[in-house]
Parts: sequence; C-alpha cells; structure tokens
Amino acid sequence: MTLADRKILLIVAGGIAAYKSLELVRRLRERGATVRAVLTRAGAEFVTPLSLGALSGDKVYQSLFDLTDEAEMGHIELSRDADLLVVAPATADLLAKMAGGHADDLASTVLLATDKTVLVAPAMNVRMWEHAATRRNVAALAADGIAFVGPNAGDMACGEFGPGRMAEPAEIVAAIAALLAPAGQALAGRHVLVTSGPTHEPIDPVRYIANRSSGRQGHAIAAAAAAAGARVTLISGPVTIPDPAGVTTIHVETAREMLAAAEAALPADIAICAAAVADWHVVGAGAEKIKKDASGTVPAFELAENPDILATLSRHPGARPRLVVGFAAETSKVVERATAKLARKGCDLVVANDVSPASGVMGGADNTVHLVFPGHVEDWPKMGKTDVARRLVARIAELIEERDS
Ligand SMILES: Cc1cc2nc3c(=O)[nH]c(=O)nc-3n(C[C@H](O)[C@H](O)[C@H](O)COP(=O)(O)O)c2cc1C
Repeated sequence: MTLADRKILLIVAGGIAAYKSLELVRRLRERGATVRAVLTRAGAEFVTPLSLGALSGDKVYQSLFDLTDEAEMGHIELSRDADLLVVAPATADLLAKMAGGHADDLASTVLLATDKTVLVAPAMNVRMWEHAATRRNVAALAADGIAFVGPNAGDMACGEFGPGRMAEPAEIVAAIAALLAPAGQALAGRHVLVTSGPTHEPIDPVRYIANRSSGRQGHAIAAAAAAAGARVTLISGPVTIPDPAGVTTIHVETAREMLAAAEAALPADIAICAAAVADWHVVGAGAEKIKKDASGTVPAFELAENPDILATLSRHPGARPRLVVGFAAETSKVVERATAKLARKGCDLVVANDVSPASGVMGGADNTVHLVFPGHVEDWPKMGKTDVARRLVARIAELIEERDS
C-alpha cells in the first residue's frame, strides 16, 4: 500500500505509547509518506525530539512561540500543508482540549486551525478512557468528524487490563491509508474470495431454515476489495441487495453449495468468510411438501452438521489462501468466543461482531467490530458497514503486504 507523496502531520502527545509512534513514523516513511512531527511538552518527556526528527527526516516542532519556526513555517501553514493530521498517542488531556476548542500550545492550536481530516489514536489508562469526561469528549469529537483508531483492550503499562492501549502502528497505517486513499490500489493483482449473506437450508421444497443476515457487510467488503484493485469473487447466499459492481458474484443457497463454490474459486490470495452459514441442514429434505397430518402429529426433523467453510479453507491441503479471515457473530462474550474460534478454525484473523438484538447489527447499517488476532485484539469504534469494509480492506492489504516482505 503506497502513501507516496502524502503528507502526514503527526502529533505526539505525552503518553507511554509515544514510543510506538517512532515505529509509526518509520512505517509511514517506508510507504513513501512525508512525516512532519509536532511534539507536546509532555510528549518530549517520553520520546526525544532527536529520535523523532531522525526518523521523520525533518525538524520537530515543539513550541507555538518559537520565532524561527513561526517565520519559517507558521503554525497555520503547518496544519494546512498536510494531507492528514494524526494524533498518536492522543492523551486524555489533548482529547479534552480538542473537544473544548482550546489552543494554548502548538499541538492544540494546529488541531484547531486545520481544515484537514484528523485521525486520533487514543492511549490512556482504562479508568481515564472510561471516565465520563473522556466519554463526553470522545462523543463530541466523533460528532465533529474526527476519525478514531483504537484504543484496543489488553494489558496496559500501568498493570491494569481493559480498553486504553494505543492501536498498533500497522493498524494506524491502515486507518491512514483508508482515510487518504479509500479507492487506492492496495490489492491490485490479488484474487479475493468473499462469502456473504445467510444460507437457506431446505426443509422441503417451499420451507427452509435461515438467519437474519442481510449480506450488507460481506457485500460492502467485496465492493471495497474491488475498489482497492482486487479481482473479487463473491459467493452470496440468498439476499435482497444488488450484486456489487465490478465483482464476479456467484449465487448459492445452502452451506454445501457455498463450500463447493468457494473451493471451485480457488486459488485465491485472500479469503474473507463473512457469510452467516447455517450450522446444520435438515436430513432428507425431500422434493415433496410436508403436509399437515390430520391426526395433529408434529413432524420431527433430524439435523446434520454442515461443512465448515472457514475451517476447510484455513486447512486446505493444496490451495490455502495466504490470508484467511473469519467472521464471528456472537450475542455475548464476543471477543472470548471469537478468540476460541480463531484457534479452532485455523484462520489468521477473526472479525467479531455483537449481533445481539440490541446491537441492531443484523440487517442494520452499522457495525462495531473487534479484530481478533493470535495474541492481540483491535477494537474498532461503531461505524457504518461501508466504513468497516473500507478499513478492513486497508488492514488486510497491510497484513498481506507484511507477509510478502
Ligand atoms: C508516566 C506517565 C505516563 C502517562 N501516560 C499517559 C497516557 O498514556 N495517556 C494519557 O492520556 N496521559 C498520560 N499521562 C499524563 C499526561 O502526560 C498528562 O496529562 C499531560 O499533561 C499530557 O499532555 P499533552 O496532552 O499536552 O501531551 C502520563 C503521565 C505520566 C507521568
């Protein structure tokens, strides 16, 4: 994924996670971006301007009232010259200042003076993140159009556990790429296989077992992968939404048909199994409609397990896609169950979403997902399914590129 000629203004605030921003600078420059850094006074307690400047290959801006800086590159120009402003780590303090419209140092002034998109990667102790004041500030910033990446849940430097850990540099790079180049060619030359929608498992010729999946998330992923330059094969269960443009769509009904179509579409570089595949089918679903019995006897159905498409692709003997992504639809213990699924299925990543009725995910327009990798979890904020798709495709492009190098 190239970020050639893109200009990033990176604001590093005063949190432990500031050390990860050095890695972020390196990764951005590897992709051809120009990085200019602003370091807050507290930020300079955690990383030195020397490290940041050496990695960015530019001077590091620290003071609003530096006469030389102001003459060479005024603070307004600093904020307007960039394609994107990234705050990583974004402290509770800086988020509060941004939400309140403060401008009492270089970082907050630049953030208030900008007319560009701003991406923030919060990092703080879990209590600070969950504090009512931070909740209010984050909600206000999201409403103002500020983009968020992370924070993730996990062990924290302070010894506590929970959300507050800064997103990993690769995740921030993917979010940057998605914001800067939503229709870039990050997946050019790749064949991406996507499954989407529900399956229908016949009971008889007119009745079937189904689920509430609309196919919107999977179809949006197929469209985003095509927009990113991939050749996309979409295997869709029965849905009422249109086939995405620029994508080869194969329509199937049952889980067994979906598996056969998926295997027939191999080889693929990437498989994204977003379909809500039924776990069971009815044994002996016949060609005749089952008739109501005059005696009132209720029919009993015998169920048999469906093939496991995700596990089959993940352990495919001859043609395992280099990256296999599963989806976990859970109504409780979402991350815990997705972590178990990751291990059980042998895939590389599980995208977990809460599909409890209160979430409104099934059939709705929004989704809140957690990316469960072996060893770490990335928690994404609530987004439209199209935004989830775009960001997921950018993240997947980043992962496949990492595997190439
Ligand atoms: C050791 C240490 C670690 C800190 N880590 C964080 C942190 O991860 N997140 C945060 O919001 N504040 C953290 N703080 C507090 C901030 O540094 C403090 O609020 C500071 O005023 C932030 O300034 P800035 O937002 O201008 O960078 C930490 C403070 C100390 C002493």
